[in-house]
Amino acid sequence: MPPTFTAIDAAGLGLDRAALLATMDPFVACRLAPTDPRWTAEVARKHAKARRRLRQRRWFGWLGRGKRRDQGHIASEYDQAWARKRLAPYEMDPRPRAGAAWQYGDEVMFATSAAGARARLLVLMRAVALLRPASVLEVGCGNGLNLLVLACRFPATRFAGVELTDGGVATARAVQEETELPAVLRRFAPEPLFDSAAHRRVDFRRGSAAELPFAADAFDLVYSSLALEQMEEIRGRALGEMARVAAHHTLMLEPFWDCNDRGLRRDYLLARDHFRGRIDELPRHGLEPTLVTDDLPGEIWLQPCLVVCRKRPAVSS
Ligand SMILES: C[S@@+](CC[C@H](N)C(=O)[O-])C[C@H]1O[C@@H](n2cnc3c(N)ncnc32)[C@H](O)[C@@H]1O
Repeated sequence: MPPTFTAIDAAGLGLDRAALLATMDPFVACRLAPTDPRWTAEVARKHAKARRRLRQRRWFGWLGRGKRRDQGHIASEYDQAWARKRLAPYEMDPRPRAGAAWQYGDEVMFATSAAGARARLLVLMRAVALLRPASVLEVGCGNGLNLLVLACRFPATRFAGVELTDGGVATARAVQEETELPAVLRRFAPEPLFDSAAHRRVDFRRGSAAELPFAADAFDLVYSSLALEQMEEIRGRALGEMARVAAHHTLMLEPFWDCNDRGLRRDYLLARDHFRGRIDELPRHGLEPTLVTDDLPGEIWLQPCLVVCRKRPAVSS
């Protein structure tokens, strides 16, 4: 059965479009009308690029520039990116002068990736407040941004993260050496923090989603945020592992194919060999969706979808 999509203001998270747009605002370079020639030109440019890449892939397979983005490729790409960027993208001041094309309903804007990161962090904060887990694991936690801030918002909760790259884990651990969460992250937090030293307690591990280094049912909540998008090669194993180590819930903020199967987004995901998981494959992993919404901001080439699942109890034979 196709999933039922809920509007964000009916998702039980106490959020609406205005709240998410306000959260993004410090990272928005400019808002435009969808008919503005700068906007239509950017959409056309991005789509032409994705189509070109897709054609290349069809003609030459995975040779040359269409080289497959396998896990080795992804690890080296992110390893360098996390080490290079550190916390600079989350500085709110000064307001950016340029950015990529973002869309949320009828609102279109040029914004930096931190705009989306902050909106997703707000969604995660509200989801943790709603589900009230005692323990939480993030799979593919990158530089630890979400976990470092969530830990300070929910100091009584035990947080852990698994990340493929040394660069990501090293950046997160460097932040943990500071006695207090750095000011840049305290300002970035979309909601008040209750213990600005709790980031030091997050358990960051280097490892792969294909083989999570934890026992079955080890965490009340297991989530991923734009990380499965990089794991098409190991999609089934990663979903199986998330389900295995979750005791009660999983949450995914990922570009499920259900809301990316048309136009630019479809061409981009196919050309980039990104995640093509469908919501209706989750029950195969013992995960039963209880909340689905794609009423979230996204870059014009990738629409994140929030899927919260309850883990089905194992049936003993
Ligand atoms: C787009 S980033 C998202 C990072 C983080 N979740 C966030 O919201 O900022 C995707 C991350 O997934 C990680 N990743 C990719 N494949 C992985 C795997 N098999 N196991 C663990 N992490 C992986 C990448 O190294 C990268 O840090």
